[in-house]
Amino acid sequence: MSKHIPSDIEDDDLNAASRKKEHIDLAFKARSSVRDIDSRFDYEPLFARHPQDYSALTTRFAGKTMDAPVWISSMTGGTQKAAIINQNLAKACGEYRLGMGLGSCRQLLYSDAYLSDFQLRKYAGEQPFYANLGIAQVESLLQSGNMFRMRELLDKLDADGLIIHINPLQEWLQPEGDRYTRAPLYTIQDVLEKLDISIIVKEVGQGMGPASIEALLRLPLTAIDFAANGGTNFALMEILRSAPDIAEHYRSLVNIGHSAEEMVSLTNIISDRLGQDCLTGQVIVSGGIHDFLDGYYLTEKSKLPAVYGQASGFLKHAMGDYVELQEYIEMQLQGLALAKAILKVKS
Ligand SMILES: Cc1cc2nc3c(=O)[nH]c(=O)nc-3n(C[C@H](O)[C@H](O)[C@H](O)COP(=O)(O)O)c2cc1C
Repeated sequence: MSKHIPSDIEDDDLNAASRKKEHIDLAFKARSSVRDIDSRFDYEPLFARHPQDYSALTTRFAGKTMDAPVWISSMTGGTQKAAIINQNLAKACGEYRLGMGLGSCRQLLYSDAYLSDFQLRKYAGEQPFYANLGIAQVESLLQSGNMFRMRELLDKLDADGLIIHINPLQEWLQPEGDRYTRAPLYTIQDVLEKLDISIIVKEVGQGMGPASIEALLRLPLTAIDFAANGGTNFALMEILRSAPDIAEHYRSLVNIGHSAEEMVSLTNIISDRLGQDCLTGQVIVSGGIHDFLDGYYLTEKSKLPAVYGQASGFLKHAMGDYVELQEYIEMQLQGLALAKAILKVKS
């Protein structure tokens, strides 16, 4: 006869028996190896309760508040699939109060045919929302005396500023690619001198080395967006699009560049050395950020205030139903809040 223990508390663990059975069944599969321990973090389980919400993640970027240090990196526009992708991304930017860069808005300089793919302020709300142009277009606007078109573009999109992407390898490898007629640095300096707009400078997946980082840090940019090597790689993307002989000749260029981790270290060293001469206030750590752990690790390591950006990570979940993107972002933000509560980046 089973003994009934009189109690005024109830056991609400109704799955206990099946869970115990699953634990036994899975015990030999659920073994890890010390070789795989993530050595980036100290795990400190003693000092925080489980996060109840995302409030610990609030961040300032470009004079605005973001509910989490997460940036939706510049992607697409101007092709059929892009409309739904961009709308999903902008909705998520507004709903989760993140920040977002548009993909290249080059087409809008010449025609409004695809304007609706980019006119997304109504979804992004008050969040940081930036237009995007390649340095080749910026150079040609400067040379043709059409700089005012950049401001027009920002007005048309109600954007907070302009992201300029520097992508000499991509342009070189792209069959229809542009050629720069002057060093990108001079073009950026001209824009900063002549237009009073917020500027972010990025690569597109190769990152940048120390001399380029230093030159950018010396400019009054809103941010540098790393777009480092380690994720989507546009040298490879263009090689995949090109004729076999070109692909064979240039394949080795794919591995040129700098990882996001290397760029964080370089930026820390250079900004320390520059002191007052470091005029760029923030960074977007991006390029090969796989998940919230990478993002947490690298933003914590950065001495300059940092958010982290993902392109392909969001793209994967933004092509269909908005719900899929919501689920992805919620999991990432919950993971990030948990990481912040229990993980310390090793120094
Ligand atoms: C489909 C796609 C389109 C992109 N288009 C642009 C673009 O128009 N302008 C730009 O600055 N970067 C563009 N990027 C580069 C991303 O902003 C980002 O720097 C790069 O993909 C690295 O991030 P990831 O490894 O998280 O994908 C694009 C990336 C993808 C995947």
